This record gives sequence, C-alpha cells and structure tokens, in this order.
Amino acid sequence: MAPLNVGVVGTGIFARDGHLPVFQAHPDKFKVVAAYNKTKSKAIDFAKLAEFPEDKVYDDMDSLINDKNVDYVDALLPAQFNLDAVKRCIAANKPIQIEKPIAANMKQARELVEIAEKTDLPIAISENWSFLQSINVAKKHLPRIGEIVGFQHNSTGPFVLHNKYMATSWRQHPEHIGGFLSDGGVHQLALVTSLVGEFESISALTSQVREASGDDDIVFSTIKIRDSKCIGSFSYGSAFGATDKWIYLKIYGVNGSIMVELSNKAAPVVRVKVGSDAEHSGEEEVYNVTEDKSFGVYEEFTNFYDAVAKKDKSLLISTPRAAFHHLACVAAFIESSARKGDHVDVEKY
Ligand SMILES: NC(=O)c1ccc[n+]([C@@H]2O[C@H](COP(=O)([O-])OP(=O)(O)OC[C@H]3O[C@@H](n4cnc5c(N)ncnc54)[C@H](OP(=O)(O)O)[C@@H]3O)[C@@H](O)[C@H]2O)c1
Repeated sequence: MAPLNVGVVGTGIFARDGHLPVFQAHPDKFKVVAAYNKTKSKAIDFAKLAEFPEDKVYDDMDSLINDKNVDYVDALLPAQFNLDAVKRCIAANKPIQIEKPIAANMKQARELVEIAEKTDLPIAISENWSFLQSINVAKKHLPRIGEIVGFQHNSTGPFVLHNKYMATSWRQHPEHIGGFLSDGGVHQLALVTSLVGEFESISALTSQVREASGDDDIVFSTIKIRDSKCIGSFSYGSAFGATDKWIYLKIYGVNGSIMVELSNKAAPVVRVKVGSDAEHSGEEEVYNVTEDKSFGVYEEFTNFYDAVAKKDKSLLISTPRAAFHHLACVAAFIESSARKGDHVDVEKY
C-alpha cells in the first residue's frame, strides 16, 4: 500500500519529538505533507523538520482539513480542543487521530463518542500504551492463571523538576479534569483495563503534592471490576521526592499470577507463575519483552493506517469508547475523593 499523507494539527513538543520521528522512520506508510498551529512560526519550523514546503503551513485548521492531498489528520492539541477538531474532520469527511485524553470533561467525551460512532470514518484516540507488546505477551498467558480475582497496579516515581511538558501553560492551568491524573493516568488505565477489564466502581483519594502540577497529581484507590468478582488497587503519581520509578501491574488468578514490569521501559518483563496454591506452584517463567522505542506510538500509527487504508474503522483498537472509559475512571477518582473516598460508580457509555 502507498504511504498515506498526514496533516498535523498542533505542532508542539510531542508532535516534534514524539510523532514526527515515527512518521519519518516509516516512509513506506506515512508522509507528513501539511501542518497547522495556533502560533504559525512553530508550524513553519515543523515544516522544515518534516521537509514539506512552507506553503503547506495553513493559517487555519479547516484549510488543512480540506486539503485534498491530506488523507488524514493527526491532532495534538490540549484536550479541550479535541471535540471541535473531530467535528470539523467529520464535516469534511476526513479521518482523524487525536491525542489523549479524549476530552477535557465527561460531557465532551460523551458527545465525541456519539458523533464518532455515527460515522464510518476512522476516529481514534492516541493512547499509545494500548499498543504495548507487554500487553500482548501478558494476554497470551492470562488463560493459564484461571479466573482473575485481584490486581495491583502501581505507577509511581519522583517529581522531575526539568520536565519539558511541565512548562506548557495548558498543563499548568488545566481545563481538562484531573490535570496530570488524566494526562498520564489514561495510559496506565489503558494498560490495566486491557488486561483485567473495565472498572465498575472506585474508592479513591487524590491529592496535589506539587504546586507546579496545576491540579491533583497523585491517586491511591481500590477498584471493583465490572461483571467480575475481581477487585484491586490502582496507585499513580510522579510527584514524590527521590524514589525509584516503579511501574508494575500484578494480576492474581486462582491458578497463578502474572506480573508486568515496566519500570525500565527499555526492558519490560512479564513474569508468570502457574499453580493453584503454594504447594503446586510452577517455576517462575520470565519473558523479556521488546518494545518499539516509540513505546507503542508506531503500533498505534500502524493500526490507524490500516483502518484508513482499508476504510474499516472496526480495525481500530484505541476507540473513542475505550478512551471514554479511561477518562471516566479519572472522573470517578476525583468524585470519590471529593466524597472522602466513598465508593462511586464509573460512568458508563
Ligand atoms: N501519548 C503521549 O505519550 C503524549 C506525550 C506528550 C503529549 N501528548 C499529547 O499531545 C498533545 C500536545 O501536547 P504537547 O506536550 O506537545 O504540548 P504543546 O507543546 O503545548 O502542544 C500543544 C499544541 O496545541 C496548540 N494549541 C494550543 N491551543 C490551541 C488552540 N486553541 N487551537 C489550536 N491549537 C492550539 C499549541 O499551539 P501554540 O504553540 O501556538 O500554543 C501547541 O502547538 C496533548 O494532547 C498531549 O496530551 C501525548
């Protein structure tokens, strides 16, 4: 199949450092041909890096969307602008991929799912953690550990003073619910829910440790999984003092357990133990996982490429409906915490 022509909307940090290198590493599939950014000079710089002519830097989003040479739009905007970008693309009959979180709040997220599900156009949310090979490796072994009855997810780490993302004003004064809890938390939720199932209800406490975070930046919670007797815990935050970065998901079954270790993203490990009890425990099996250096972005792009090239949105993995659930979990963390940890139901689509 020929490469698809991509128009980029929002040429900020992640467009430049995250998406563009992946597009450029795979010229068989992608060619970046146009851009639009609120501050035009940044889009001109981006055009130089992406090696397309300056006359393909547009002054407004609709001109880019309506460029007949653009096969699909890749939007990297603060979440409050996602719904508008999707509406514009649907009006112009153009597929669009938007960055996570799906929206700034649940009202917008619901409207976005509604309109996305009414069109045949592929519309996807860029939640790259949904595409980790570690998930595929763990999934392969899940049936071996029997019914899943518990899980523990921990993603905690030290506050990073010189974080390039921290300097963006939309993160310092977030319009999106949960601030960093939704900004990064939806990645964690994509990983956990793809392996243990959707969250049904949550009891959580959230808190703001760092003023620079702009909103609450840590959460500790207990979870009930939908249509399952599985219960578990979910802890997230990178706002602490010096400590190791510690990311793991442990899944407990009645016939064994699986541990997904992502603390060292360059060398993830999946550990499996099979057996019904301590007396019948197999040896620990250790599977070293190779992740693409883009940590799921390449696989996410390839999935969108397939859906656009084959005109088949049913191929999409990171759908608006899936991303709705991840943001709904964040909304439930916040609601539960405001009610001193009461157990609250996660909004269903
Ligand atoms: N998947 C991941 O791991 C990951 C990692 C990082 C970021 N992201 C996502 O990528 C997106 C961009 O984040 P970033 O870190 O690159 O931030 P950023 O550098 O601030 O980029 C945001 C971009 O949106 C543009 N923008 C702001 N307000 C706008 C408006 N009203 N209309 C149109 N454009 C507007 C900004 O333009 P100006 O420059 O003119 O302000 C800027 O180019 C976010 O959705 C973020 O969640 C994802």
